Amino acid sequence: MRSLISILDLSVQEIDELIDTACDIIENPAKYAEACRGRKLATLFFEPSTRTRLSFEAAMYELGGNVLSVSSADSSSAAKGESVADTAKTVSCYADIIAMRHPKEGAPYVAAKNASVPVINAGDGGHNHPTQTLADLLTIRREKGRFDGLTVGFCGDLKFGRTVHSLIGAMARYPDVRFVLISPEELKLPSYEKDVLKQKNIPYVQTTDLMEVMPELDILYMTRVQRERFFNEEDYLRLKDSYVLEPKKLAAARQDLSIMHPLPRVNEISVAIDSDPRACYFKQVLNGKYIRMALILKLLKEAGRI
Ligand code: NCD
Repeated sequence: MRSLISILDLSVQEIDELIDTACDIIENPAKYAEACRGRKLATLFFEPSTRTRLSFEAAMYELGGNVLSVSSADSSSAAKGESVADTAKTVSCYADIIAMRHPKEGAPYVAAKNASVPVINAGDGGHNHPTQTLADLLTIRREKGRFDGLTVGFCGDLKFGRTVHSLIGAMARYPDVRFVLISPEELKLPSYEKDVLKQKNIPYVQTTDLMEVMPELDILYMTRVQRERFFNEEDYLRLKDSYVLEPKKLAAARQDLSIMHPLPRVNEISVAIDSDPRACYFKQVLNGKYIRMALILKLLKEAGRI
């Protein structure tokens, strides 16, 4: 059974095909309006979410399908101590496909091993978030028309930010991509992620100074400091406002910079940036729905359910 746990479960060619399908859905939505008639998506979210869960659900509705939803850990049998494996076996009896978010790294993998329907990782702890990456890639393709040759800056919480980990993994497969890693010392990209870049000889620099690197960037991917992954509140309070993007800080930025953020935003991007044509974060939100439609179609087709 084909699931999506890590972005690396998809080949570069498959990602291209998903992007092409998403673009076709954007152009011809009526063609897809009945594609999943009678099929059910279960969204199992054991951590807070607005965009990811609702975009999965909107995606399934726009494909003509239906949705079953668990939107918090305390409203399901997880609160009674049920294992992820048993939950996955149970939900497989009701749904054709599952999207799961969980605070524990690896939980969607365990679900996929035990489910008899495809499982999509909708974010596991500080680990991975492959469907946000698909939304990010669709946005980059629509904004830049390409992936190769780009200098991508990641700024903020690179330690716990799962969207950063997945997007670096995906972008590292395209030629001539360079990474600029901007974070406080305590929130640097984990060494297991950097080892992959070193092994593949992919150029990257680490810095604490956003302003110094701003003119080099084609993409600036801002992130929230991940409060829920901190061991103590004091550290969070000290680090939370390390970077706040304001209009004056864009003075030296490229005119064709794309400013991205997976959202939710706390304080990292001033609302005054929202009207700058370089701001792409609400485009990412919309692209997230289209690419999830393409992904649901692909996995249901491969499972023989449509
Ligand atoms: C992200 C997440 O859940 O990892 N949100 C999202 O899905 N768009 C980013 C975050 O919570 O900071």
